Amino acid sequence: MKNILVVGSAGQIGSELTLLLRDIYGGDHVVAGVRKTKPSEKLTSTGPCEVVDALDKEGLLAVVKKYKIDAIVNMAAILSGTGEKNPMLAWDVNMNGLINILELAREHGMKQVVVPSSIAVFGPTTPVDNTPQETILKPTTIYGVTKVAGELIGDYYVKRYGMDVRGLRYPGIISHETLPGGGTTDYAVAIYYEAIKNKKYTCFVNEDTRLPMMYMPDCLKATVDLMQADFSDLNYHCDYNVGAMSFSVGEMAESIRKFIPEFEISYEPDFRQQIADSWPNSVDDGPARQDWGWKPDYDLDGMTADMLKAIGEKHEKGLI
Ligand code: SER
Repeated sequence: MKNILVVGSAGQIGSELTLLLRDIYGGDHVVAGVRKTKPSEKLTSTGPCEVVDALDKEGLLAVVKKYKIDAIVNMAAILSGTGEKNPMLAWDVNMNGLINILELAREHGMKQVVVPSSIAVFGPTTPVDNTPQETILKPTTIYGVTKVAGELIGDYYVKRYGMDVRGLRYPGIISHETLPGGGTTDYAVAIYYEAIKNKKYTCFVNEDTRLPMMYMPDCLKATVDLMQADFSDLNYHCDYNVGAMSFSVGEMAESIRKFIPEFEISYEPDFRQQIADSWPNSVDDGPARQDWGWKPDYDLDGMTADMLKAIGEKHEKGLI
């Protein structure tokens, strides 16, 4: 790969992934594609930035030609919470955006397309503990429906056209650089911000809600390791389970209290409780470990220490 376009560069994962890819491939070789959000100074000062919309194929094509793009990472998506409020928007962005990118990649002989998936592909009838790689995919959210279809269409392009399309089923991603937006797992980020700012948090899912989660450094490592793996080593393409941690909200609160003993938490579950309840507690990521050497570095307390330090520093500087 010489020139990579990251679509959705201003998002929670995209913002940090773009910077890491620039460290690896050189700033000029990684184009940050942003839609509406104003890109951060970090994004604009380390390489090219372009306004792109996954739904505007002509606009994407112009950027592909301008920078001789030969790989696209598609991080643009409407997540589970926002998706339930506007199902057709989720379908449009997540499916038509993806098909535009896959078709562009096919028409221009691109070397790789990265298509992220999610634990949202699972549903209430999927085994909840240590969810296998191969299992029941019957999600009950529109987001999950688009992610299952995204995995299948990505795999179809591999088989039908011999293309290199890859993706992971991300768990909830926790980070302190860019806030997530519109997801069910967003509470696992908000809890740290509120712990620093107010020493208390009201959570929109209940105390016992347990989901697979991952800290951003592990998320970045997983993404880049999969991108760089030998294609011939991959027994799967667009649907690798990747696990790191699994904890309940109550256990998160306990972890925070080790650093902020006076931290208080209360619970007011909303519509996202049902979404969280339809997803697994933990996933089996054996194939990712076997095929491309996946292994996470962070556990809950290690992540909590890091998150509170970073967010605490932002708070001291008056940035939040
Ligand atoms: N973080 C996503 C969500 O909550 C799951 O992939 O929607």
